Amino acid sequence: MDESSICFIDGFHSKLYYRGYSIEDLAANSTYEEVTYLLFYGRLPKRKELEDFKGWLKENREIPNQVIELIKKIPKDTHPMEVLRTVVSYLGNLDPGRSDLSLDGMYRKSIRLTAKMPTIIAAYHRIRTGREIIDPDPKLDHSANFLYMLHGEKPSELWARAMDVSNILYAEHEMNASAFASVVVASTLADYYSAIVAGIGALRGPLHGGANEEAMKQFLEIGSPDKVDEWFNNAVAQKKRIMGCGHRVYKSYDPRAKIFKEYAKKFADMYGGELKSIYEVADKLEKLVIDNLAAKNIFPNVDYWSGIPYYGMKIPIDLYTPLFALSRVAGWSAHIIEYVTNNRILRPRLYYTGELNKPYIPIDQR
Ligand code: COA
Repeated sequence: MDESSICFIDGFHSKLYYRGYSIEDLAANSTYEEVTYLLFYGRLPKRKELEDFKGWLKENREIPNQVIELIKKIPKDTHPMEVLRTVVSYLGNLDPGRSDLSLDGMYRKSIRLTAKMPTIIAAYHRIRTGREIIDPDPKLDHSANFLYMLHGEKPSELWARAMDVSNILYAEHEMNASAFASVVVASTLADYYSAIVAGIGALRGPLHGGANEEAMKQFLEIGSPDKVDEWFNNAVAQKKRIMGCGHRVYKSYDPRAKIFKEYAKKFADMYGGELKSIYEVADKLEKLVIDNLAAKNIFPNVDYWSGIPYYGMKIPIDLYTPLFALSRVAGWSAHIIEYVTNNRILRPRLYYTGELNKPYIPIDQR
């Protein structure tokens, strides 16, 4: 369990690598499709390999009618992460190769699901807001196509690139809680879909992926830059967690947060108004966190700044964690494939702290 060649985090020096490539290099030069290939196969694709891979993703974007009918039946106030969990499970039911644990079978399913996750999320959002579902556009790349299916309009270059960079930044992060949940399930040789459903369940919580939604709600709750000091002092006095800050592995500034912050600034400068004010709230709060909590190794993490570009792209807050999931499915899949290729059931032990050899007491004598 303790060896992997997928991802390395140097939490003391703000460094993150996917398969040896720095996150800064990938965010500046790569695409989500290429990064997914890299995570799955361990190396950057040649041009023809990338074109084929993109083609497979495009071919798999559509979701069957049965799935659309299922989504229509889900209560409209259901959190989209719960919808994703249900639909991924159902897609497993519909896949005749669901129990195929061969390497080819696992790659096929990983590509199938990576391609379909954005379609599921966009379809649910369109249905719950009473609008027509938009079919995927094969002319658009993965991230741009998601925005198109969500809003019904082709995104600008900035929006498409911001979404793609978000997908690159969220694609993988070593053995975090959701990757662990996926790998534990896969290690029993259960099917791929059960493993991904476990990952989605773990990601939903506010201490993990759910933090990007909570961070944005926190900025909105603060309301304006002049209220940040008072809000922060109250939070510290009440021992409240600042959402989007702190990390089990990073004891320094999360390198992904730095890149998201650059996009947050771009969107704030471009749109001004409310977005600029939210940016200023976040920036001021970040300074207070660093001045006061850095001694406890608490710095902004990936979920702190990601919401501001999303807000600028008019994405509803409850889709922020699903956005994390639709990207992270690549990392979960890479870990499942790597682990199962050399499988041993994951079975941690616990330190027992109870008593032993207690005499059984008949119920009337207790
Ligand atoms: N704000 C304020 N204090 C925080 C904090 C935060 N976001 N995160 C941790 N701390 C404090 C804890 O209160 C604790 O203080 P204490 O020693 O005085 O009791 C100390 O830092 C260690 O916290 P701990 O919960 O043991 O750290 P962890 O490694 O178990 O937790 C997280 C990591 C991510 C769960 C935690 O930092 C957190 O809850 N962050 C907010 C949610 C979040 O952004 N999650 C996304 C992670 S990518």
